[in-house]
Amino acid sequence: MIDNYFSGNAEKINELKNYWHQDPKRQDLHDEFIENSLSNFYIPYGVAPNFLINGKDYCIPFAIEESSVVAASAKAASFWAERGGFKSEVLSMRKIGHVHFTWTADAQKVRTFFYEVKSDLFKGTEDLTANMRKRGAGIIDIELIDRSDIEPHYFQIKGIFETKDAMGANFINSILERFAQIWKDKAEASSIFTATEREGLLIIMCILSNYSPECIVRTEVSCKLEDLFNGKGDFPAEVFAEKFIQAIRIATIEPYRATTHNKGIMNGIDAVVIATGNDFRAVEACAHTYASRDGQYRSLTRCTVEDGIFRFWIEIPMALGTIGGITNLHPMVKFSLELLGNPKAEELMQIISCAGLAQNFGAVASLVTTGIQKGHMKMHLMNIMNTLECTPEEKIQIIDHFRTDTVSVAAVTEVFKKLRAKVNKDS
Ligand code: MEV
Repeated sequence: MIDNYFSGNAEKINELKNYWHQDPKRQDLHDEFIENSLSNFYIPYGVAPNFLINGKDYCIPFAIEESSVVAASAKAASFWAERGGFKSEVLSMRKIGHVHFTWTADAQKVRTFFYEVKSDLFKGTEDLTANMRKRGAGIIDIELIDRSDIEPHYFQIKGIFETKDAMGANFINSILERFAQIWKDKAEASSIFTATEREGLLIIMCILSNYSPECIVRTEVSCKLEDLFNGKGDFPAEVFAEKFIQAIRIATIEPYRATTHNKGIMNGIDAVVIATGNDFRAVEACAHTYASRDGQYRSLTRCTVEDGIFRFWIEIPMALGTIGGITNLHPMVKFSLELLGNPKAEELMQIISCAGLAQNFGAVASLVTTGIQKGHMKMHLMNIMNTLECTPEEKIQIIDHFRTDTVSVAAVTEVFKKLRAKVNKDS
């Protein structure tokens, strides 16, 4: 494959091959995850220890390229571990999918027909749901939704599912496609409709929805206001709390800030979603739709002080799996799940929401105190030095220099150039 694309370009071929796994079997495994695979794309894999969640200690794996995220999460986790830790609860684990169709028949007749065939939809998918039903999951309910208010003759068969520890996309989509077949077959044989009405049915598509507001977790941290010492210089707890609460309020009412605020939350969430082999695009899409559920895009976290108690929480829907997909295949995903004690999907929802809440606490705490650049640019210093291809000796000197000075690409480049010039002159 590489030779097809880059024949004659030894440099490019070597670069791609450098990132192949040394064990050809493992490389084959990775190649087979996608199509037209050329190589592997590395991102760093780190851990944030000291997460105390529902009384249990976790060391959480993060796969992320952005500096500061792991450090900020770990720091926030330690801060809250000393204040009782995170309390997390999965409120519900229901997922949704639709058969989208148009039908020019009378809406009342479609409704009557639905109640006639609803049991056939359950029965006709029993072979697909058998294993899930054994685990106490499967199809929870099936509804007919008339959406002709937004599009002429548009209806949905809405399936509500529980999929236990599987993310459930394949399961749900297979069932929806079967629903569509049963719906069409039964419609053709039904005496409710005239021949013209029967011809007026058009199945558009069958697909799960990545918006799963009923597959949702709520996670909270709290402490006495006076215990909210932020560890950042001389900010009294009340001033810190006041600024913090105002920052969360701004993210709740101002979409420009809400977007960046939620991006910070997703820094923590995506990193663990990726490390555990889950679909971060699905989790992202769902989170942002949920953040807009009342018609305006808002913060996913909220905060209050009542009766002297500071409370900070996140409510976020996410559909995750700890079995299926690449969870049993990707060696690093297996490693991550083991590190977390092989959690069930429900527990993983709790863990990942904590990573998001911790990340948000760390980011907002920095923003309302020292500012983000101080910590961020210190961490970013390493990336700048690597871009400049600094030697280990140069790195030590540059880090030392920026203990006091403000980090910027220009400032680091200048110090680096001076160091190099001095070495060249001395040699
Ligand atoms: C940077 O990746 C994330 C932050 O911008 C989040 C925030 O502003 O809350 C620091």
